[in-house]
Amino acid sequence: MKHSTVAELLSQNKTQVEVEAKGWVRTFRANRFIALNDGSTINNIQCVIDFENTDETLLKRITTGAAVHIKGTLVESHGKGQSVEIQVTSIDILGDSDADEYPIQPKKHSFEFLRENAHLRTRTNTFSAVMRLRSSLSFAIHKYFNENGFYYMHTPIITGSDAEGAGEMFRVSTLDAKSPPLNDEGNIDYKQDFFSKETNLTVSGQLEAETYAMSLGKVYTFGPTFRAENSNTSRHLSEFWMIEPEVAFMDLAGNMDLAEDFMRSILSYVLENNKEDLAFLEQRLIQEDKFKPQAERNEMTLTEKLKFVVDNNFKRVSYTEAIDILRNCKPNKKKKFKYLINEWGVDLQSEHERFLVEKHFKCPVILFDYPANIKAFYMRLNDDGKTVRAMDILFPGIGEIVGGSQREERLEVLKEKMAELDIPEEELWWYLDLRKYGTAEHSGFGLGFERLVMFATGMSNIRDVIPYPRTPQNAEF
Ligand code: 4AD
Ligand code: MG
Repeated sequence: MKHSTVAELLSQNKTQVEVEAKGWVRTFRANRFIALNDGSTINNIQCVIDFENTDETLLKRITTGAAVHIKGTLVESHGKGQSVEIQVTSIDILGDSDADEYPIQPKKHSFEFLRENAHLRTRTNTFSAVMRLRSSLSFAIHKYFNENGFYYMHTPIITGSDAEGAGEMFRVSTLDAKSPPLNDEGNIDYKQDFFSKETNLTVSGQLEAETYAMSLGKVYTFGPTFRAENSNTSRHLSEFWMIEPEVAFMDLAGNMDLAEDFMRSILSYVLENNKEDLAFLEQRLIQEDKFKPQAERNEMTLTEKLKFVVDNNFKRVSYTEAIDILRNCKPNKKKKFKYLINEWGVDLQSEHERFLVEKHFKCPVILFDYPANIKAFYMRLNDDGKTVRAMDILFPGIGEIVGGSQREERLEVLKEKMAELDIPEEELWWYLDLRKYGTAEHSGFGLGFERLVMFATGMSNIRDVIPYPRTPQNAEF
């Protein structure tokens, strides 16, 4: 007989049938009750052992973390919190677990400790719930684009260009690190490297996605991106996943409409399909809040927060309006911000973004028309000559979650901008070609997937929403 998943067993109406289950022991109480989990649901199935007729050495091997194969009868449960349980007729220990050494004991562990045991942390309720939600969000993203006429495009991971122009890239090279070949100027001679040029891991698939938008119309990428920025914050990873749609014949307003509709759609998908995991994470946050000072507690529960985003329009505010608000706000006047806002043109820090979203507007905000010189080279210049058609979406508790823009489609304007920033035309000849052959208005954005998972799960550290986080000084597992 094939074994069933715990999820299947718990949702089965028919009792008094023979069943089999395989999973890991979460707890074993009173020599009698096994809480068994196999990852298919946050819930455990209770397996009741007739311990008087079970060999004692076998009983001793039923320890937290052990993998077991259980055969028995599915019966109605009189215990609290479950409708059915298994009356065990036989139990096979598939893999023993040393009870004293097993790191995931049935008690509360700190997230720091669990990060050090990231290979086992999905055996806890919190992390299994987070990772099931992560999986579900990925599916919802592909589903949304598929249903809306987008093609999924795989952009290269190894690249010769710096899409964001921030110079924060990881080099890919097979040259001898100890004594690389040098050219006449005494610099590393990348002509002798694997690709005969300097290459790096990509920071974004956008530039390549633009080439496909200008032929296939609507495309998106969903892949890993890499940034060697030395920011050790709770919102930055050195390796993160990004979703980047790119659409031909779409302006910035269309881009904002798309981003809003997309964010709403994927969040409503998980509200509908991940109820149990969300309910668990919501309770976790409520418990956590009890230990926080009143001012730091969440005003909404997790599902209320998600529903709020699904049900309300995002507030659209220009950078210039935002600067006015920030300049005159209390924390700025009372010098509570670390970076005070005095003049138009400065980049916004996360304290400012969070003030706008959490204190001022109290809803997701789309900021647009940023100063040209704090944004990337490819954004379309406005007629004022000083702002570009950029947009950032800011979410409560997260800050920037999406960054996007309408792209500069005018060859001469783009060339000028590249010259200004010392971006060699030879490097991006193919990108410039798009502006020579049938150029047209087009736009897109990038959603940081882990920031989305943080928002949907209520987790406050980005290291806890990706299986194996890569951050400065850390690439374990
Ligand atoms: O704003 P960014 O840098 O935009 C781009 O890369 C564009 N090429 C996107 C596009 O228009 N196609 O990054 C987009 C998003 C950010 O809003 C943020 O959510 C996330 O990616 N992000 C990071 N997430 C985790 N760790 C990091 N170090 C991140 N840097 C950016
Ligand atoms: Mg950005």
